[in-house]
Amino acid sequence: MRILITGGAGFIGSHFTKLLLRKHPDHKVTVLDALTYCGNLENLTEVQDHPNYTFTHGDIRDRELVEKIIKETDRAIHFAAETHVDRSIDCSDPFISTDIKGTQVLMEAARKYPVDRFVHISTSEVYGTALSIPMTEEHPLNPQSPYAAAKAGADRLAYSYFVAYKLPVVIVRPFNNYGPNQFPEKLFPLFITNALEEKSLPVYGNGTNTRDWLYVTDCCEALEILLLDDEKPLVGEVINLGTGVDTDVLTISEAILNRLGKPISLIQHVGDRPGHVERLISSTEKAEKLLGWRARTPYPEGLKRICDWFVGNPGWWKRIKEKEGEFQDFYQKWYSRL
Ligand code: NAD
Ligand code: TYD
Repeated sequence: MRILITGGAGFIGSHFTKLLLRKHPDHKVTVLDALTYCGNLENLTEVQDHPNYTFTHGDIRDRELVEKIIKETDRAIHFAAETHVDRSIDCSDPFISTDIKGTQVLMEAARKYPVDRFVHISTSEVYGTALSIPMTEEHPLNPQSPYAAAKAGADRLAYSYFVAYKLPVVIVRPFNNYGPNQFPEKLFPLFITNALEEKSLPVYGNGTNTRDWLYVTDCCEALEILLLDDEKPLVGEVINLGTGVDTDVLTISEAILNRLGKPISLIQHVGDRPGHVERLISSTEKAEKLLGWRARTPYPEGLKRICDWFVGNPGWWKRIKEKEGEFQDFYQKWYSRL
């Protein structure tokens, strides 16, 4: 089978690429990635010499390139996106362009050159703060940031291609992933690396906001079923991936500092994120019923693993944090405002 993975050099996409080639070495895997500030080929060194792996450096908005690749594709899984809520609040242009237009280019190409399945990676952020608990796939969509709004647009665009053109789309809404190789601007990697550098942990507001934390390799196991399983009735469905448990930011901050043996005084309350989503917690019922899948890494185990990974791989995150430009510029600009 020929599989296209967009955004495969990013956090979740690289874990998925590695899992796929490890478990299905006969599938031919093409990663299409623009290598934006958070795309990193170091995330893929494990597979770079695999005979069935191809990397294409390119943009999902490049219609000609995308058509050329989709023509040679049986199944696609679409991760590529601008992904950081704070950056979208700072400037929404690349979010609207990549997350919506990029998805439309892929969908159009898949309409012209049909694929057997198109797994669209959406996000729990499309729901906004939980109005009912746990959050099912029927929860209203109330995006609270330009990132979430762009992803909601792409999510519904993907659905419309299923309805209007019978494109075999599956829409997945993962809750917050955490794990190795996550760009150090998101909560876990930022706070772990700041703690290791004895820098403060900037907690937005009072730190009571919660998320449903899903360990990245658990997420990828569900995505494998969603992309490859032909027995299950998945096409046209929207499926949440979460654990059914939520944890607040302050609890996580304290746990990170305890695990790393750093003082609690590193916690620094800063101003709140505009539009901050208060609570996200997933219903696990539909994923269990349709996929036979449950997350299997409890949060304390995940926390231990991610802390150990960042402690053991300082080169990976120091190269990102110490490089002039992207990480540093945004960090200074954003946190000096709060
Ligand atoms: P990431 O930011 O780590 O990686 C995104 C990747 O997309 C990068 O490799 C980047 O280079 C690539 N990319 C960006 N713009 C591109 C373009 N125009 N053309 C081609 N490639 C481009 O993101 P992630 O955290 O791995 O998230 C992957 C997907 O999962 C995204 O769609 C995101 O919305 C979704 N998601 C993430 C989480 C999470 O907690 N990380 C949760 C739910 C959903
Ligand atoms: P984040 O990792 O940005 O993911 P998302 O916004 O997609 O859920 O943020 C997770 C939570 O951590 C969210 O409640 C905001 C909070 N947070 C902070 O308090 N300080 C920070 O510096 C960051 C990046 C996040």
